Parts: sequence; structure tokens; C-alpha cells
Amino acid sequence: MRPLAALVLLCAACDGRIDDMVVPAEPPPAPTRIDGALTTGSTPARSELAPLEPGLLLGLASGALHVAGAETLYRFDRETSTFTAVPVGEVGESMRTGPVRHLARRSAGLFVVAEGGIFHDAMGRLLRSPLSQNISAVDVRALDDLGEGADEELWLTTTDGVDRVRAGVKTRVDLSMSGALLAPDLAAAVESGKGLVLSNGNLFSVDLGARTAKWEAQGVPAVNAVARGDDGTLYLATTKGLWSRTRTGVVNVYSFAAAGEEPKAVADVTTAFGEVLVAVDGQVAELTHAGAAGFGALASPKAKGIARDANGDTFVLDGPKLVKLATGRAVSFEADVKPFMVQHCTRCHTTGAEYSPVFDLASYAVVSEPAFNAKVIQRLTANGRGPMPPPDVEVLTSSDYAVVLRWVAGGMQP
Ligand code: HEC
Repeated sequence: MRPLAALVLLCAACDGRIDDMVVPAEPPPAPTRIDGALTTGSTPARSELAPLEPGLLLGLASGALHVAGAETLYRFDRETSTFTAVPVGEVGESMRTGPVRHLARRSAGLFVVAEGGIFHDAMGRLLRSPLSQNISAVDVRALDDLGEGADEELWLTTTDGVDRVRAGVKTRVDLSMSGALLAPDLAAAVESGKGLVLSNGNLFSVDLGARTAKWEAQGVPAVNAVARGDDGTLYLATTKGLWSRTRTGVVNVYSFAAAGEEPKAVADVTTAFGEVLVAVDGQVAELTHAGAAGFGALASPKAKGIARDANGDTFVLDGPKLVKLATGRAVSFEADVKPFMVQHCTRCHTTGAEYSPVFDLASYAVVSEPAFNAKVIQRLTANGRGPMPPPDVEVLTSSDYAVVLRWVAGGMQP
């Protein structure tokens, strides 16, 4: 690759202004390679589901599995194991999505990018998003959504380039190098106003507030799938390993192979309630501290489409088949959340040690109170506020607090 002379971030119409930024080029350090073949995890019961038409894409809304067929989105009812078509448009309105191209995650819901526009789920229906007026859905190559309400922002990759949309303001994010515009392949959000742009095997971070960009990784192989973890880590399933970039800028490559061996191709990656699932080496596997544990054999080497619902069950599009792996179990405060809090949190917060505010994180009534619960989740995911526990004491990853996220998604059972 040509050496980078300069990296310029052109942020047209940033808060109504046009800013050109030049960032001195600094080649990124080589990523840390994490080796180790898959270990064998549990072997959950496997069953085949019969969707109403062959499933093409999997997604999640309100904690429930959704399957997109050619032109219809279906909701899976776990109690009855049946699929129901999600109606499109407002009640009484006759509307169609047209051919579905992508499904994208949206805090508790999802986006459907289809030829007829960009749709989002609301109260069990699919509504055409106002975004469709400004963006031609046909041109959308990738869509990533972060935050909720007034904080919601979208990073869109279209055939034209990358746009960040927030509070109705569309900001073009153009990166150029040595005076030449880079063609973005993919953009994703990291946290408010910060994102990542992949271009021709190079990964760049972009900070729209500080108006800076940084070269984070080079030599990223072809990307099969992308997902963002609840802790802001971006995962890229590539033809040579799983590349990850944490919110703090650490780039790792999970090879799923022994040291010195060629990294395995990763067909898919998904994140759900703190957990990271991959399709690699003929298995569905869960990434853990110790490496990755496979728990479901795949018939198709190119299995594409993995989802995990709020109950913890795993769904995989294995070639033409939609398979359910019964990894789920109910999560309760007493059995799961309380032990987590006692292990990681209460020693400060029940006593006020280390100048901590006093509240009882071992109490169901306290932790399930909605406003306080939102604070707990914000501090666990370090979303806009410093992480808990304080990082000098203990650093948790999203798989550590997955149980708390699932408990919330499952309706906070006592
Ligand atoms: C080493 C002591 C310590 C541990 C362990 C610890 N905290 Fe904290 N926590 C603090 C301190 C000090 C503050 C106040 C400063 C701040 O907000 O960062 C705080 C603040 C908080 C707040 C903000 C309260 C508010 O009203 O804004 C929440 C929520 C919280 N902690 C939850 C947790 C959770 C959940 C855990 C375990 C995963 C945890 N803490 C573990 C020391 C600790």
C-alpha cells in the first residue's frame, strides 16, 4: 500500500458548517492476534423451524426473533413456534416494503432496508421511516444505528459515501488520503459522534466532535459480516479471522487456529445482550474470555444469519434451513443478577467505600426501578459515562454483564 501522507476528514455540513481536517498519518500498530482452536461447549437441543417462506435474513425486535423473506418480515412466536407476517404501514394504510435488502439493529427494534424505503418496527407494525425521503434505500450498502430518542444516530453507507444522521441533520463524512478521496466500504457507529470507516482493507476511526480521524488497522481481509457489541466493540467477520476493535482503540484478530496457522474464515458474527456469536469452522460458537466455545454444528460452511433472542435461544440460517439451538434459559434477579452484583458491585455501594454513593444493588426493588435501572445499564455498558466498576478496580467485558442485559430484555423477573 502507498504510504499515507495525510488523512483529511471533510465533514460537509457539520452543524451547518463545512470543515476540512488534516490528520497526520501514523501507520497503525499490527493488531494483536489471539490464537486457539474452538473448544467444545454445551450441545443444546437442535430443532428445525418452518418459516412461511425460505428465510433470508435474521433480526431481533423487542427481544423476539424476526425473519425476513423476499418481501415480508415475519415475527416468531416462541410460545407457539409460529411465524406471523408483520403488517406494513399505519392501520388502514396499504403499503408494501418491496424486496428486502438488509435488516439492521435499532436499540430495542430493527430497521428494514427494502426497495420501497427504510422501515422501522413500531407497536408490532413496520412503518416507513422519514429517512426514506432523503435517502434512496436502493443505494444503502450498510446501516448502523446507535442510541435512543434524542441521542439516536445513524451511520449510513451508500453508493455515494458515508452519512451520519442525527437530530435530522445529515452530515457527510468524507475521508481522503494524500489528496484522494477514499471509497468507503462500510461505516459503523462507536459512540455518540464517533464511528469507524472501513475502506479498502484500512480501518479508520472518526471523531466528528473533535474533528479528527485516525488510521486504526490495515490489511483487513474481505468482510462477510459486521456487528457492534454492547460495550462499543466493533466485530468484523472476515475471510481470515474475526477482527475486533474496542471502543478504546484496541484491535485484535481472533484466528480460531493454532499459532502460525492461517486464520479461519468467519462466515458471520452477531451480538446479542452482551454475548458475541460467530459462525466459524463448521460451528456456531460463543466468544468468551477463554477463547471461543462451539455449541452447534453447521451443515453449511457459509451459514449466514445468527440471532439470539431475549430468552437466550440461538437461531441460525444453516443453508436453506432455519435451525433453533435451545441455548436459552430464564434469567431471574435472585439466581443471576444478584450474584453478579454481589461479586462485582456491592462491596462499594452498600458500604459507601471509595466515596461511592450508597444504594442496594442486591435489592430487586432498587435495581428494577426503571430510572435507576437505566443508570445501571449505562454504567455497565459505559455508554456516555465512565464504566462500573471503576476501571482501576476491575474491567468487565460485555459477556460478564450479559446476564444483566438479558434480565432487562426478559422483563426483569424477580
Ligand atoms: C471500587 C468501588 C466501586 C465498585 C466495585 C462499583 N462502584 Fe459504582 N460507583 C463508585 C463510585 C465512587 C461512584 C461515584 C462516581 C461515579 O459516578 O463515577 C459510583 C457510581 C455508580 C453509579 C451512578 C449512581 C448515580 O446515581 O449516578 C451506578 C449506577 C453504579 N456506580 C453502579 C455500579 C455497578 C452496577 C457496579 C458493579 C458492576 C459498581 N457500581 C461497582 C464505586 C464503585
